[in-house]
Amino acid sequence: MSGKVVLAYSGGLDTSVAIKWLQENYGLEVVALTIDVGNESDFTAIKEKALKAGAVKAVVIDAKELFVNHFIFPALKADALYEGQYPLATALSRPLIGKLLVDVARDEEAVAAAHGCTGKGNDQVRIEVSVNALAPDLKVIAPAREWGMTREETIKYAERYDIPVPVTVASPYSIDENLWGRSIECGVLEDPWVEPPDDAFAWTKSPKEAPDAPGYVEIGFEQGIPVAMDGKKMSGIVLIQTLNELAGSHGVGRIDHLENRLVGIKSREIYEAPAAAVLLRAHQALQAMTLSREQLRFKQQVTMEYADLVYNGLWFTSLHEDLAAYIQSSQRYVTGTVRLKLFKGSCTVVGRKSPYSLYSYGLATYDKGDVFDQSASAGFIHIWGLPVKTQAQVQGTSRLEKS
Ligand code: ARG
Repeated sequence: MSGKVVLAYSGGLDTSVAIKWLQENYGLEVVALTIDVGNESDFTAIKEKALKAGAVKAVVIDAKELFVNHFIFPALKADALYEGQYPLATALSRPLIGKLLVDVARDEEAVAAAHGCTGKGNDQVRIEVSVNALAPDLKVIAPAREWGMTREETIKYAERYDIPVPVTVASPYSIDENLWGRSIECGVLEDPWVEPPDDAFAWTKSPKEAPDAPGYVEIGFEQGIPVAMDGKKMSGIVLIQTLNELAGSHGVGRIDHLENRLVGIKSREIYEAPAAAVLLRAHQALQAMTLSREQLRFKQQVTMEYADLVYNGLWFTSLHEDLAAYIQSSQRYVTGTVRLKLFKGSCTVVGRKSPYSLYSYGLATYDKGDVFDQSASAGFIHIWGLPVKTQAQVQGTSRLEKS
């Protein structure tokens, strides 16, 4: 082949080696693309590293705002948690990386896109399915899936080409992080019986070292989007960053998930997602107040479909557009404030209010001011229980009587 390839470049060993490997094995010139999704790094150093490893160009894109507004907040509105546990931080960033790979490939008139994922994970699927959807003509190359090198061999390869290998003892974990959370895998975590050691965590304090006094925080929402913290308006990026620190300092947001990967493997994953934990809980609490029972029941089904779809790399699909339209519509009255208590690893909703609240004090109260017509309940029960009574009369209730 000849021409250019745009490589999603993290600055790590594998993607650094991939720069040389792509030149050697495909004869392509490599444009390194590094995307800032809130994974706090020294992007200038990464850029230099890419050029030193042989890239013809190194591009850094600050995609934090895009990530928050087009990926994180829509997922929050959807209440998205994969298998009820994982807030999907890594999964949400992959279609964005795919899109930016395509954008830069077009700018550079490249013939291919490349990424550093291995052949065992979900990330390869998410990136490639996204690139294929947006640019079917672009070839996708996955060096780490093709080269079949062990870690030792990768290091030797790097040394042979004078590619800097991190001198510090590399973390025993494979880590991916962005504003919405930190994913930690490998090392001792692969034994599902082993409790995650303290060194696996970077964003959250161990609950036993968290402050002895609870912290309180109020999140203001407008149509399902968090717009204020403790009464102060702030941008999505700042709100998430601030909450990650605050909730993390109280030990909130640790998740231990034995998860089902798309490629058929069960895998043990540890996550830290303090802001996501708080915001998802707050959002659900506000919805409980502003959506009807039927809307809430139906939304739970949409939530599950949506979370699976994001996890499985199907971001750029019509099904996603359809679900997103429902989710968006469901948020029109999800406006108000939720108060939460953060205490030694727990995050509890302790208050909620909304101008569109469906909670009626007059209907709910047992005190003075009760406007609920209790005498109407007799007729309601008569009609409601009619089919139950009819069936019991004809068929009996023997199953219960016998036991
Ligand atoms: N299991 C998670 C997912 O599939 C996290 C993946 C983390 N990726 C990584 N390269 N460390 O979304």
